[in-house]
Amino acid sequence: DEATTPPRVSTGELPPPDEIRRLVTEAYERYRANSDGVVADYIPALAGASPDLFGICVVGARGGSFEIGDVDTSFSIQSVSKPFVFALVCEEVGYEAARRQLGVNSTGFPFNSLMAVELNDDRTMNPLVNAGAIATTSLVPGDSAELKSDRIREGLSRFAGRELSMSEEVYASESASNLRNQGIAHLLKSYGRLYFDPDETTDAYTRQCSLEVTVHDLAVMAATLANGGVNPQSGERVLRPGVCRRVLAVMATAGLYELSGDWLYEVGVPGKSGVSGGIVTVSPGKGGLATFSPPLDAAGNSVRGQLATKHLAERLGLNLF
Ligand code: DON
Repeated sequence: DEATTPPRVSTGELPPPDEIRRLVTEAYERYRANSDGVVADYIPALAGASPDLFGICVVGARGGSFEIGDVDTSFSIQSVSKPFVFALVCEEVGYEAARRQLGVNSTGFPFNSLMAVELNDDRTMNPLVNAGAIATTSLVPGDSAELKSDRIREGLSRFAGRELSMSEEVYASESASNLRNQGIAHLLKSYGRLYFDPDETTDAYTRQCSLEVTVHDLAVMAATLANGGVNPQSGERVLRPGVCRRVLAVMATAGLYELSGDWLYEVGVPGKSGVSGGIVTVSPGKGGLATFSPPLDAAGNSVRGQLATKHLAERLGLNLF
């Protein structure tokens, strides 16, 4: 419609702060009343989230930020944790070993494979789908679920620039309903593609997904990836540049699961979604954008989050292409 700012061509920088404020407010107002999608309920503790919640935060690669909406609401990080834990594992074992042990492709099948067509949903091998993410958690240093999850919590806290803690409620709820992930862990172990005890690993993975964040935390985490691995607010180097760019490559390939190609085509920036309603997007050198809104589409991605991110990527000039 005519009242809305038209898309702009991507340049080397984010627009000035006043313009960011205006555009983020515009996106918030535009999509706030959208009532499509359904709140995830396969983890009972997530089912009670209000479908009205909606927050957006932008953090620039130099640390400036603007946020609007439900920015103080905490929610469990869920799958948005996956690229960050992959990053920590690359720091520990090296990105080449991580690639060998986890894979970085969207399906793991050759170009002319019929199996890829038949089995793509069940067998994708990269750190951002559950199988690869559970294998990634198995590579985190530490000889117990507890030690691994401490390590993950500390690492993700460095990305966020503050001490994160776990939601006991989500952890208990997800632990009581994660038979499928336990099954994946045992199956991977049988193939030699899990590098620790399957039950302990699933427990550490479940704790990882239950870490509580706000949309502001997610935007700072995304901005750290946008800034070559240095948290732009705390100044701490969390990742080496060689790791950072490879994490972004995997996000571009698989961050929105089977819709990653559509996402890159439309939004043009690496992203990662989670079932509690968070989405992060990273525009290298420019900044990080995070949205939070619990109602999801059929693929499990936040409806308002996708709309607001697409709107903003086009107007903040985030697109890589
Ligand atoms: O393992 C699970 O099912 C959840 N802990 C995380 C899934 C998730 O966030 C998928 N994202 N769209």
